[in-house]
Parts: sequence; C-alpha cells; structure tokens
Amino acid sequence: MAPAPREFDLLIRGGCVIDGTRAPRFDADVGIAGGRIAAIGDLAGRSAARTLDAAGRIVAPGFIDSHTHDDQALLSQPDMSFKVSQGVTTVVAGNCGISIAPLRENTPLPSPLDLLDASAQARFASFADYFDELGRTPASINVAALVGHSTLRVMTMTSLDRPAEPAEIAAMSALVEEALAAGAIGMSTGTFYPPAVKASTEEIIEVGRPLTASGALYVTHMRDESDKVMAALDETFRIGRELDVPVVISHHKVQNTPNFGRSTVTLPHIRAAMQCQCVALDCYPYTAGSTMIRTDRGMLDGRVLIASSVPHPECAGRDLGAIAAEWGVAEPEAARRLQPGSAIYFLMDEADVQRILAFDETMIGSDGIPVGEKPHPRLWGTFPRVLGHYSRDVGLFPLETAVWKMTGLTARNFGLTGRGTLAVGQHADVVVFDPRTIRDTATYESPKKPAAGIDAVIVNGAITWQHGRHSGARSGQVIRRDPKAPRRTPAAATASKAAASSMPNEAAR
Ligand code: ZN
Ligand code: CU
Repeated sequence: MAPAPREFDLLIRGGCVIDGTRAPRFDADVGIAGGRIAAIGDLAGRSAARTLDAAGRIVAPGFIDSHTHDDQALLSQPDMSFKVSQGVTTVVAGNCGISIAPLRENTPLPSPLDLLDASAQARFASFADYFDELGRTPASINVAALVGHSTLRVMTMTSLDRPAEPAEIAAMSALVEEALAAGAIGMSTGTFYPPAVKASTEEIIEVGRPLTASGALYVTHMRDESDKVMAALDETFRIGRELDVPVVISHHKVQNTPNFGRSTVTLPHIRAAMQCQCVALDCYPYTAGSTMIRTDRGMLDGRVLIASSVPHPECAGRDLGAIAAEWGVAEPEAARRLQPGSAIYFLMDEADVQRILAFDETMIGSDGIPVGEKPHPRLWGTFPRVLGHYSRDVGLFPLETAVWKMTGLTARNFGLTGRGTLAVGQHADVVVFDPRTIRDTATYESPKKPAAGIDAVIVNGAITWQHGRHSGARSGQVIRRDPKAPRRTPAAATASKAAASSMPNEAAR
C-alpha cells in the first residue's frame, strides 16, 4: 500500500508568529505546501514531509529589502548569501536611477552605473530580456525591479551633461513603457549623480508619463540630501503629484554637520505631504553612507573609507586620509586617482538616523553595494541590526514594528501582492530567528559576516538558509507588477494618526 500523502511539505512547529501586519505576536505552527502558507495554528498531529522545530523562536514573513543594487548580483552571485543570511527573501532592484536593463552591448558605463558590478559582462537590451534570464537561471531570492532613469539617459543621449531634448525624452519614455509592460514596478531616478544631475524636473515628469496609467512607482535618490534637502523633497512631491503616482524617497537622510538635527524638519514635511499624496520612504541603520568615489568637498567632509577601487584594489578598507598622506597629495586628488570605485562616507548623525528609523512609515532598505572585498557592512547586516541593535537593545520600537517595517509595510508600498505577511494563501517566504540572539556581526573592518540568530530562511517554500549555511536552493521568482493590485490612496499612507490597532488591517490588504 502506498503511504498516505503528507499534508505539508514543511511544518514549522512550536514558534511564535509575528505576521508582518504589526499585530501582536502569537504562538502557532505554520504549515507550508506547494510554495504557499497552507495553515497557521495548532497543527499538532498533522503530517509533514519535513519538520522544523521553532520553539523559542520568532516565525516571520521573509524580509523585503526595499532598496538594493542587486540587479547584476542576482545573476552573478545567485546564492545571494549576503541577503538570504539576514532573512531577506525579496529585493527591490534598480534603485538610484541605475538599472541593469535596458543597456546596449559595449556601451561604457559611467559611475555610478558601474556599481552594479564592475566585472559584469551581461547586458540586456530590454527589461523583458533581463527578466527572461532571471527566469531561466533563478536566484535564491525573489526580485521586483525598477527601471533607472540614468540608465535610460546612457541609452538614449549623446552627452549626459545637459537636459534631455524632446526626441530623447520620447525615446526614454518609450523605454519606460516597455519596462512596465515587461513587469517593472516603476522608475527610479538619481539626480544626485553625474549622469542625471542635469536632468530637469520637467524631463523626469515627461520621461515618467507611462507610470501614470499603470499606477507604477516613482522612486528617487533625491537631488540633495544636504543643505538643499527641503527643495529636493518638494521636487519629489511635485513629480509624484504631476504624474499622480506614489513616490518613494530612497534612503532618507540629512548629511553634513550643519544639517545634523534637520530630520526634525524633514519628517514633519514628509508627513504633511502624505496627507494629500502617496509618499513612502526607506532608511538604512547606519551613520555612514556608501556610493561611488566622489571628489567633491561635501562628500569628503567626514571620514572616508575606500570600499573598492579599480586602479588601486589594494586600497580597499583604508582611510582616504591615510592614502592621501602616503601619496603626498590632497584628499580630492587621491580620490580622483582611486576612481572608479566605491567608498564609505561618515556624514550622518546618530540622532537623525534613529529619528528617521523610528518614523512610523519608514521602511528598512539596505542600499548594499554587492561588489568588492570591503563593502559597507549594511550589505550583510542591515536587517539583523534593526531587529537586534535598534529594536531589542536600543528599544527604538517593538519587534512587531521592526518586522512590519521590513515586510508588510514594504509589500504594501511596492504593491508586492501575496508577500510581506504570514497568512494562509501567501507565498511561503518565511524567516525563523531567535529574538534574544539576533544581531549583525558585519563591521566596517570585517563587513562580509552573516548575522547571528537566524535559524532558517525559506523562499517560496524551499529552505534556503539553515544552521548558518546556504542549502543551494534557487527558488527565487521574478515579481512582476500586478496590474490588479489595489491602488494606494493617500489615506492609506497617513499612519500618523492611526493607532497601531488600525494599521494591521491597512498593511494586510
Ligand atoms: Zn542612492
Ligand atoms: Cu542606492
């Protein structure tokens, strides 16, 4: 006689569920079948092909990294250990105006486009080609992707040091249309960066026109996060209003010493805008940022650590000041000689970082740059740092809120249907962690370190990380924009007045 079929592929037994809606935790078993959550509750005596003991552990939705530059890494480092080891099961790629598609073979990539992966050979002429490749060779985690405006400029313009002309705008806009048709969830810009610094507000609005009909997102690394941050916020809100689409402010911060404390002004301004339009924001839990090596004074004001350098790989992990002294040149000159590459800039105040993280609507995004030997520790440490350091040790917010900021809130803001909460019928993206021991171990000195306290990470039903090791599973999916996802309304974004009791329903929808 054939054995009776097992009811579940996997049964997570005896854990405490934090479901990603911000609701209080509750004890329950979680049954998974066919890549979906099949049951939540007391599942004692039910049969399963495999059982995972979660006594004393939290069982939560897999974390969604709202801000990444993993476009190329998903193909060249498909295990994605730097993310899955943190409990991340989905990444949003294509941020800061830079996406891997569409790009022509042999087009030289100006910084910061080269941050996606300096060694990358693969080029994709269209978003559909990129998604097809990810479908053929899946990564270990899911991806939703934005099309980058700087990438479109590189594709369509003969020179980048001016605003786009009407024909170029039309060409870029057609490429946005194509990306959306392939399933991109929106468009990103990075007007802070040389390839897009000359783009006018009007250019961005006209290029982004196709977003309107689809209700796709406008996501931005703003023109300025320093002295002119308020004007940059207003530009962002205006683009969102004129296109009538939700906007996401990427890695919100206020940098340079004279601006320390200004989050007390920016956050109320963002909250006010949320009353009349959809605005979201994310943040990484560190006082240092990381991007391409820059030579401008504002960026070199604080301590600068070189993360990677193409001409001087031996300088990775060293202070720019020490390199400049050794070479007998000023820091901007040393920085110029180290280009192209990436660096870590200590330009923020801890109080601002905490205030922005604790702001009700702030999502968690790593902004990790997956290249080089000495990346910013956020690449490996962002999510456990928020759970362990900021939630448990500093007490910035309860664990339920921390989980919500990296799951349900993010899925809602990006329209990722079927993800971000633990409920029957949802995709089985799950993380099991120990709330007493979870912490980041990646440091500036030694950044490639997996988190402590992560028991297991499950992606679409497959155990992908367990006992500190990758299982080899590659069950990640491409998440295409869901045209039927309910459109967000500004009311849904105004969490300020809503008590914790009403938010769960909002987030679960
Ligand atoms: Zn950025
Ligand atoms: Cu970024």
